[in-house]
Amino acid sequence: MNADAKSRVDQSARFLQKWRPQAPDLCIVLGSGLGNAIPDIDQMPSLKFSEIQGFSASEVVGHASELRIGEIKSAGSAKSRSIAFLRGRNHAYEGFSTAEVAHNVRAMIAWGVRGIVLTNAAGCLETQWNLGDFMLIEDHINLSGLNPLSGAAGNGFGQRFCDMTQCYDPEWSAAFRTRAKALGIPLRQGVYAGVLGPSYETPAEIRMLRTLGAQAVGMSTVVEAIAARQMGARVAGLSCMTNYGAGLAGTGSKLDHADVVHMGASVAKIMAELVLDTAANLPLGD
Ligand code: HPA
Repeated sequence: MNADAKSRVDQSARFLQKWRPQAPDLCIVLGSGLGNAIPDIDQMPSLKFSEIQGFSASEVVGHASELRIGEIKSAGSAKSRSIAFLRGRNHAYEGFSTAEVAHNVRAMIAWGVRGIVLTNAAGCLETQWNLGDFMLIEDHINLSGLNPLSGAAGNGFGQRFCDMTQCYDPEWSAAFRTRAKALGIPLRQGVYAGVLGPSYETPAEIRMLRTLGAQAVGMSTVVEAIAARQMGARVAGLSCMTNYGAGLAGTGSKLDHADVVHMGASVAKIMAELVLDTAANLPLGD
């Protein structure tokens, strides 16, 4: 199973190396509703996930399931970075194995990208925050019950007992804060609770997550972040607060995936501005 995951990742990496021998500098994973906001994305070289050997494709509404490559310039400086955009991701709640959830990010790192920016739509656990706010992920609580490092020892990707003390790169997080300030985009920060889904939480679960110290809850990101850290890549995470956690917006209010996608899409342009400007300025050295 583990050997299988490794050989599939190697297969994808070899395929991508043939496609473009020079790997992009970094990879940005675009979550629900966030995939359409990158300017000129449709003109960028692309591959459907189904065209990449070893990839499997998600079919969730709001995800395009493709890889695009873009050269991104910083507004204020001569810096530029080449970026792999993963539009869409595999979720465990769709029936994908943990290895399949981690696969695309692992393949990007095996190809040669230096770090991963994970974006997602998340439920907001802070009643003082506004919907559409962005939260820099400072840390996570993995409640999904999944870990891409589980299985027989030596999965071939790195250390089994991987340190998670600073999963979200402090330098990259600082770069996000600096660029957000320069662009005048308010940026919250907090802890992301990763759950399996796909049902949304009960109000009791939301109360529990708040007690545990989480500010956001979502169904992605934690597995990819762990897999990327095991391979030594840098990780940053950005959540868009698309809805209040169940019960926080009043008893009459219900959660709907369409609203989540819609809210994500309505602030995606601002998120793209922040993510692209920051990405162009992220330090890549170790
Ligand atoms: N809960 C879990 N995942 C989510 C939510 C939520 O409220 N909103 C967007 N993704």
